[in-house]
Amino acid sequence: MTLDEIKQKCDVCRACPLGQTKTNTVFGTGNERAALMFVGEAPGQQEDETGVPFVGAAGKLLDKYLLAVGIPRNDVYICNILKCRPPHNRDPKPEEEDACIQYLREQVRAVSPKVIVCLGRIAAMRLISPEFKITRDHGKWYERGAFSMCAVYHPSALLRDESKKEDMLIDMMEIKKRYDEVVK
Ligand code: URA
Repeated sequence: MTLDEIKQKCDVCRACPLGQTKTNTVFGTGNERAALMFVGEAPGQQEDETGVPFVGAAGKLLDKYLLAVGIPRNDVYICNILKCRPPHNRDPKPEEEDACIQYLREQVRAVSPKVIVCLGRIAAMRLISPEFKITRDHGKWYERGAFSMCAVYHPSALLRDESKKEDMLIDMMEIKKRYDEVVK
């Protein structure tokens, strides 16, 4: 299935109630054959309004880290576990993740990245391990079949707690190293 075909399915999806309250599907953005994919949690208000992931305050901070370590945003693919915004930016419910995860699987198949980076605890617990603890396990690498995976702090968490920013920079520099290795 192509990314366009998967997006069309998301646009009309009613597998959970969020399909009825969203403004736009927030499907994914970037290089459709990216070697590096970032997966966040769920769209916020600005993402819901624009249909583009990580364009709000958290996204702007993510852009700064990408720039700082020398990864062009256009080279990577960015998406979320949920394609529709949960009201008031609450955490996704497990049943919403269950309803939506098939779209992410299809997206991963279509893009075929070599490295998948989870942005935050919610994505890491869903994609790496339910036991994942972000303060303990951020920046660790997990080899999962064809993919190298890791998780970093969610940029929103860095906006709330500046003390995490140094760890984030270190993790992002490691991601850039891994990225350089896989695109060589
Ligand atoms: N937070 C996320 O997890 N995803 C977005 O797209 C925006 C904010």
